[in-house]
Amino acid sequence: MARFTLPRDIYHGAGCLEVLKTLKGKKAVICVGGGAMKRGGFLQKAQAYLEEAGMEVALIEGIEADPSVETVMNGAAKMLEFQPDWIIAMGGGSPIDAAKAMWIKYEYPNITFEEMCVVFGIPTLRTKARFVAIPSTSGTATEVTAFSIITDYKKGIKYPIADFEITPDIAIVDSDLAETMPKKLVAHTGMDAITHAVEAYVSTANCDYSDPLAIHAIEMIMNDLVPSYNGDMKARARMHDAQCLAGMAFSNALLGIVHSMAHKTGAVFQDYGAHIIHGAANAMYLPKVIAFNAKDPTAKKRYGVIADYMHLGGSNDDEKVALLIAYLRKMNDELNIPHCIKNYGADSYPCEQGFVPENVFLERLHDIAVNALGDACTGSNPRQPSVEEMEKLLKCCYYDLDVDF
Ligand SMILES: NC(=O)c1ccc[n+]([C@@H]2O[C@H](COP(=O)([O-])OP(=O)(O)OC[C@H]3O[C@@H](n4cnc5c(N)ncnc54)[C@H](O)[C@@H]3O)[C@@H](O)[C@H]2O)c1
Ligand SMILES: [Zn+2]
Repeated sequence: MARFTLPRDIYHGAGCLEVLKTLKGKKAVICVGGGAMKRGGFLQKAQAYLEEAGMEVALIEGIEADPSVETVMNGAAKMLEFQPDWIIAMGGGSPIDAAKAMWIKYEYPNITFEEMCVVFGIPTLRTKARFVAIPSTSGTATEVTAFSIITDYKKGIKYPIADFEITPDIAIVDSDLAETMPKKLVAHTGMDAITHAVEAYVSTANCDYSDPLAIHAIEMIMNDLVPSYNGDMKARARMHDAQCLAGMAFSNALLGIVHSMAHKTGAVFQDYGAHIIHGAANAMYLPKVIAFNAKDPTAKKRYGVIADYMHLGGSNDDEKVALLIAYLRKMNDELNIPHCIKNYGADSYPCEQGFVPENVFLERLHDIAVNALGDACTGSNPRQPSVEEMEKLLKCCYYDLDVDF
């Protein structure tokens, strides 16, 4: 038996935020990040729509990027005090993911973070509140996914919480919210989205329900991401939908080791000033992982299909895989994203020697490889690497070496 789960309603298109007016309930809490939603006037609009619906509204503001366990626990305490029947999470992946985890803790105040991280181990939610997610970035698709990524900064590790219980009830994909994204955010979140679609398409859990969503998302992102980065707002609006389609695919077909590696390298060099932004990590690692996975015949064939949909040419699957890798690397260049950790510099831009010194990387390599193998995304990757292979792969991602194993 297979399961395919999505939110009950997905509203999309410019201005669809106003659907908040139609919610029925008594109390809503709005969870937002650092201020982008307020500056854009969207927080005020959402609050006004909910008040128009007759609800009392409370705010949880200032949720940081890559939210911590502590932020989740503090937010849940506020929810316990206010007792909302709607949780409205608005912003990038960070505030929405944090709000999902707060929701679990609000419904089950005694649950520990470790218990939340048991894959498909979340008890039944919606006994206290339902959940609306409104994305303002075009990448994570957390508005439609069964995942929440929370960082344990003491360990320097990102933990995915995974369960269809936390798939939101309503997603509001309003492209107006994506218009204020700075270029760098467009680039990172867009490469996150294409990674979701590619990993979902070759995942061992892919199926006929997820494939059309993944492949169509890839086609859209290929056409729209670079124009969106360069300021084309029609392309920006299409990217908002494309990333959501990719999310519907990967929430059900799962991901692969690009994400395992991104999760385990994101915060581990923080002490050297290098917070490797999720989408940038994916953009750097995806071409390397494609080369590694293509040794698996089924995966190679599927990468070939992707290359065909992208009209990249090539007369056999080996050529198609090479063309796909070259295309993705060209996208990194066009989006000003480096090809490897060594060149990952200030503001995530490419530079000769980035934040992460070679000796520090090599010292931590073994532990990162072990952690990446243990990540929840590794199980559905088409090829299961050994610790040695994962170390070699990470080295290729540090030095930008060709993957020939
Ligand atoms: N739950 C999932 O399925 C899933 C999938 C992939 C990634 N993630 C997680 O999501 C997080 C990344 O989320 P993200 O990439 O959306 O970024 P983010 O939420 O971390 O936001 C990054 C920055 O962009 C700002 N911002 C957000 N929207 C803006 C807008 N419209 N205009 C101007 N500024 C804006 C925020 O204030 C913040 O400073 C990571 O923690 C990652 O691990 C989750
Ligand atoms: Zn991602």
